[in-house]
Amino acid sequence: MQICQLTTIDGNTLEGLNALLHDCVNNGASIGFIIPLSNDTTHHYWSQVSKALEDSLYLWIAKTEGQIVGSVQLNVCTKDNGRHRAELQKLMVLSSARQQGIGKQLLEAAEHYAKNLGLRLLVLDTEQGSTAELIYPRLGWEKAGVIPDYAITPNGRLHPTVYYFKRLPITNSDSESLQ
Ligand SMILES: CC(C)(COP(=O)(O)OP(=O)(O)OC[C@H]1O[C@@H](n2cnc3c(N)ncnc32)[C@H](O)[C@@H]1OP(=O)(O)O)[C@@H](O)C(=O)NCCC(=O)NCCS
Repeated sequence: MQICQLTTIDGNTLEGLNALLHDCVNNGASIGFIIPLSNDTTHHYWSQVSKALEDSLYLWIAKTEGQIVGSVQLNVCTKDNGRHRAELQKLMVLSSARQQGIGKQLLEAAEHYAKNLGLRLLVLDTEQGSTAELIYPRLGWEKAGVIPDYAITPNGRLHPTVYYFKRLPITNSDSESLQ
């Protein structure tokens, strides 16, 4: 398994990312979409991601034997008072490739990159009680709180969302660059 960062999304990659997104949503992941999920919706979503890669969004994929089996995104805050933080988004692993450490390695890749950018804080939200809730505390994320009825599951039910955060260690050069 290989993890690589993408700065553009070409045709083959788009199909792999699209298949991954459909797989996760159709298997119940609450990651911004509801079912039935059309290709038009997901192609539009990935074209927005592709544009944002030119700006403040970073994207990693995990590949096994040429197939995309996972991905994650880091969205750096562009507000003047928030440029030290980023939101971790759309951590996804193909349902047939789960519990092999791929999600963990994707998280570690994004976190490592965030540290190198000099970021100090990562945040994310996830469905309360989902499998994803098992992974974040294991990797040092702290629970900030729960918001009831925050989002809608792919099959149309309101669900509570949990916010997590992770502080990143400060290095000497960071403390100068972010003042
Ligand atoms: C959440 C998700 C990304 C985890 O990916 P994964 O590749 O299966 O996770 P990993 O194999 O790296 O597991 C990481 C840790 O979580 C634990 N874990 C993962 N899935 C688990 C499960 N179903 N039951 C129990 N523990 C589980 C692993 O045991 C591991 O812990 P360890 O390091 O102490 O052994 C994957 O389930 C997924 O894509 N879900 C759908 C999309 C989604 O909900 N994303 C979250 C958006 S916020």
